This record gives sequence, C-alpha cells and structure tokens, in this order.
Amino acid sequence: VAPLKVGIAGLGTVGAEVVRLIETQARVLAGRSGRGIRVVAVTARSKAKNRGIDLRGVEWAKDPMALATHPEIDCFVELMGGAGDPALSAVDAALGAGKSVVTANKALLAKHGLKLAKAAEKHGGALNFEAAVGAAIPVIKTLREGLAGTGINRVYGILNGTCNYILTRMEQEGLSFAECLKDAQRLGYAEANPSFDVDGHDTAQKLAILASLAFGTKVAQSAVYVEGISSIAPEDLRAAADLGYRVKLLGVAVRTAKGIEQRVHPTMVPKSSSIAQVMGVTNAVTIDGEGIPPITLVGPGAGGAATASAVVADIADVARGIRANPFGRPISQLRDTKKAPMERH
Ligand code: NDP
Ligand code: HSE
Repeated sequence: VAPLKVGIAGLGTVGAEVVRLIETQARVLAGRSGRGIRVVAVTARSKAKNRGIDLRGVEWAKDPMALATHPEIDCFVELMGGAGDPALSAVDAALGAGKSVVTANKALLAKHGLKLAKAAEKHGGALNFEAAVGAAIPVIKTLREGLAGTGINRVYGILNGTCNYILTRMEQEGLSFAECLKDAQRLGYAEANPSFDVDGHDTAQKLAILASLAFGTKVAQSAVYVEGISSIAPEDLRAAADLGYRVKLLGVAVRTAKGIEQRVHPTMVPKSSSIAQVMGVTNAVTIDGEGIPPITLVGPGAGGAATASAVVADIADVARGIRANPFGRPISQLRDTKKAPMERH
C-alpha cells in the first residue's frame, strides 16, 4: 500500500514535534495504520530557523496555500494557528481539492468549523481536530464516537492548560500572575497571543466545539459567556484557600429546557473535590450522559508533545481511511444553538 503523503504548515511548538513523532514512531504507525506515513512537504514563516528536526528530503513549499493544494499531498496538516488567513484559506483550499485536513486550531474551528465541515462533506476529505481540545486527551473521539449512542446533558471542565498552570503556581508558590504566564509561554503552553488563554477565549472556543459535538448544534462561540483569570492575584487564591476552596477556570455547557447554556469563568471549587486536584498544565473534562454515571477524562492539556500525540493519531486515522463526520453528524442535522439564559449551578 502506498504511504499517506502529508504536508505540514507550521513548524512551531506543535508542528516540529509532529515531524519528530512521525519519524520516531514510524514502525508503530505503519503497524497501526496498515501503511506508512511520510512527510513530503512543509512550510512555515522562516525557512532559515533551526527547529531541531530533520527535514532532509522534505520539500519546502513557498506558502501555506501552495502546500494545501500541492498535487503530491493526501493530507494537509494545519499547525499555524489563527482564525483567519492563511489558516482559513489553506484549510478551505485543501478540503476543496478533496484532501483530508488535520488541525489543532480551535480558533479556526470555533469561528469557521461549520463552513469547513461543509467543504469536507462536499469533497469527501476528513476534517480531524482531536488536538484542538484537551491536547492529548481523546475527548473529541469520546463525544463523537464513544458516546455516539448516548444523550449528553452537560460537558464541563478545565480546558486551558496555561490558566491552570498559572493558577497552580500562583497558589503553591505565591508567584505573580506575570511570572507564571512567562513560564507558560516559555514551555510552549500559551497561544501566540496569550490573552486568548488568560481572558478565557481559548476555553470558550474549546467549549463551543465540545457543545456542538455533545448537543448536535452548530458551533457557536458567540453564545458563550466569557470571563478570564487576568485579574486574579495570589491574595485571592489565599483567601479562597482559607475558606477551603481552590479557584479554577471552568468551561461549562449545559442542556436546559430553555436551550444550551455555555459559560467560562473562574470558579471556587471545594479543595476536596476531584476537579480541585487537577493541577498544572493538566486538563479535565467531565461528560454527563443520560443513564450513565459521569465520565471524566484527565490528561496533559497543552505542550508540543501532548498536542502532537493527538495530531499524529488524527493523521493515522486518515491513513486508515477512517472518515467521521467532523461534528458527529451530517451538517444538515446540526441544529442552531438556542442560547439559554445563564443560571448559577
Ligand atoms: P507556534 O507559534 O509555536 O507555531 C506556529 C507555526 O506556524 C510557526 O512555525 C510559524 O512559522 C508558522 N506560521 C505562523 N504564521 C504563518 C504564516 N503566515 N505562514 C506560514 N507559517 C506560519 O504555535 P503552536 O505550535 O503552539 O500552535 C499551533 C496550533 O496548535 C495553534 O492553532 C494552537 O492553538 C494549536 N495548539 C497548540 C497547543 C500548544 O500547547 N502549543 C495545544 C493545542 C493546540 P515560524 O516558526 O517560521 O515563525
Ligand atoms: N494555549 C492552550 C492551552 C494550548 O494553554 O490550553 C492547548 O490548547
């Protein structure tokens, strides 16, 4: 069987790790996929930058659009980030050319997921985005496939590694918000514009994607109430601790009689609760399904290796010929999001 030919746009924290993983895990991947996976072309802003990866024999495409429509490529992997161009045009062009797309870009999916899913549906390629929520945690697959036959009432959790890392270190070490954010950036956890993390928008994008999968609605980031953590100081965390609480940035999506309620805000959780034990860059997502006890998935929520793990799993699915509906069902079956008034739970 011919190998799956992959083109990767974006060779930063995640992209470089994806190249490395495809190389180091080549035998395992070939065994699991039934065929090889070969990176044939890449692109990024700077060709000269040393990325610590071996790109010998790999073509450098002149720009993301040239890579997305490259005749040799079966699968376009978008790891540049951003809700607009070049990511949007390149992904749209790749899908339009009948290629499969793998992306970790929640900003793009939260804003244009429906349009892109339509393009995938029309032209037959896969649109896989496991890494867009919870990095290495297989939460998209769990909602889309594992719980395909279960009604979902609520999805909630810690969806941003940067914020949980900052809150953990501020509480445990008394460090300032700015110091912790700087470390999160150095470790490759934060977005290119970290205000997306600390102001709650990254969590809102992820929540909107999860809500679409959970409730069969169109992705609607604008329906999410958003409040971040940037005004929280170590003294606030100490005051919460004195009362027996920890502060966590939670994303919560609930099905109510009046519609879907989606909200992101810092929340005081009892120190004895399981969600309070989730520390550092770890994420946790709880899914309340009808007729079954809640399912909680916990794992690394950001960072190059954790994210590359999910990206490569998505590429392996393409190699195996697995093609799920991006948002769990045909586009025509996705309902508009009816926004419920917010209530405290
Ligand atoms: P980085 O900023 O580390 O890397 C971005 C890469 O894209 C760089 O290689 C950059 O090139 C390239 N790039 C940016 N703009 C362009 C452009 N106009 N044309 C060509 N190449 C471009 O980001 P990350 O690797 O951290 O994130 C990538 C994606 O993965 C984002 O969507 C992010 O939200 C998502 N993600 C990230 C996670 C993480 O923990 N970091 C976790 C989950 C998802 P150059 O290197 O030359 O500057
Ligand atoms: N900036 C994101 C976070 C990356 O910290 O969670 C993972 O999506």
